[in-house]
Amino acid sequence: MQFLQNQKVTLSAFVIGVTALVGCTAGGNNPGIEYAPNMYVSEAYEAYTQTEEMKYNPHGMTMRLPVPGAVAQGQMDFTAYAEGYEASDAWSNPIAATEANVAEGKRLYDINCQHCHGKKGKNDGGVIKSGKYAPPPWDGYEADYIKELSDGKAFHTITYGKGNMGAHGNVLTPAERWKVVHYIRSLSLGDAFQYAPEGTESVDMVEAAPKTFDGFELVDLGPDLEMINAAMSHVQFSDLKYKKFNDASAPHLDKVAKYMIDHPELNARVVGHIASKVKVPGLQGELSEVRANTVVKYLISKGISEDRLTADGKGSSMPIASNDTKEGKEKNRRVEIYFIK
Ligand code: HEC
Repeated sequence: MQFLQNQKVTLSAFVIGVTALVGCTAGGNNPGIEYAPNMYVSEAYEAYTQTEEMKYNPHGMTMRLPVPGAVAQGQMDFTAYAEGYEASDAWSNPIAATEANVAEGKRLYDINCQHCHGKKGKNDGGVIKSGKYAPPPWDGYEADYIKELSDGKAFHTITYGKGNMGAHGNVLTPAERWKVVHYIRSLSLGDAFQYAPEGTESVDMVEAAPKTFDGFELVDLGPDLEMINAAMSHVQFSDLKYKKFNDASAPHLDKVAKYMIDHPELNARVVGHIASKVKVPGLQGELSEVRANTVVKYLISKGISEDRLTADGKGSSMPIASNDTKEGKEKNRRVEIYFIK
């Protein structure tokens, strides 16, 4: 009996030992032997799982990548270019100046700004007092300059910096920057600062933001946008080698030309895209750019002034469909037109 029990113990130890050793074969892409794999691998598809079935998604991911140009909620920036200081004058603060929002602005200001501008905005923060850093050219937030400075320009400076002041767009979200702007305003105006009643709704930042593309502010065409996009979607290039669009495209481009003649205040940026990377011998520059230029030349031939048109090629960097199918490739091979200010 005693002997048998010993044997059982030895056997169990052996089985456990072997099992443990076999389990240790994991490494690299080999997960080793998994006992109860359901505990490791979810039955349901998980966002970050990669499986071969998901062949239309990059890297076999379950999750699809956002469409090009997608902006996470709340992250919409007001402008994508630093030159827009003058234009920023027109932006209004979309965040309601409630006490809570201004208090949050103060909290953020105390962390990010007071070491230069001082607790009360008198430009007497430690950095400025050290004398190693030139102070702003105005006395403090109570100076007329700041009183008259628009919220938009203050927001722009906080975002991109100005002179000796660095950019803070990477440390504060747009909403946070607007809250700080309210706080600056409250320091600037003192008792005259008017709070919004608690509960006042802020404007939806994404709605309020002017849409931009490539650093250009887009003109809101309203319902005409659909017509323009539809016309451009008919501009087709038959073969990789050709710079020319199909003859069937011309009437559609004529519509765009007519629209530009009817709207002389609009300028256009013509942007070419190709399906996948190609090197075409004898073709100068990126094919996508060549095609955008083809469209530009056509529009010029239809009486649109050259000054109103710019062209750019995005290569294959902005696909709108899968490049694995013929239809997808056809969709990706396109020229778009953006109306800009
Ligand atoms: C390193 C010191 C420093 C820090 C930190 C700093 N600033 Fe400034 N700030 C300056 C200087 C210097 C100027 C003057 C820039 C100029 O006009 O050349 C300035 C200008 C400004 C202006 C006037 C903008 C305009 O358009 O003329 C505002 C508003 C302002 N800062 C707010 C802030 C806020 C808010 C923060 C924190 C998020 C901040 N600053 C952080 C140094 C600083």
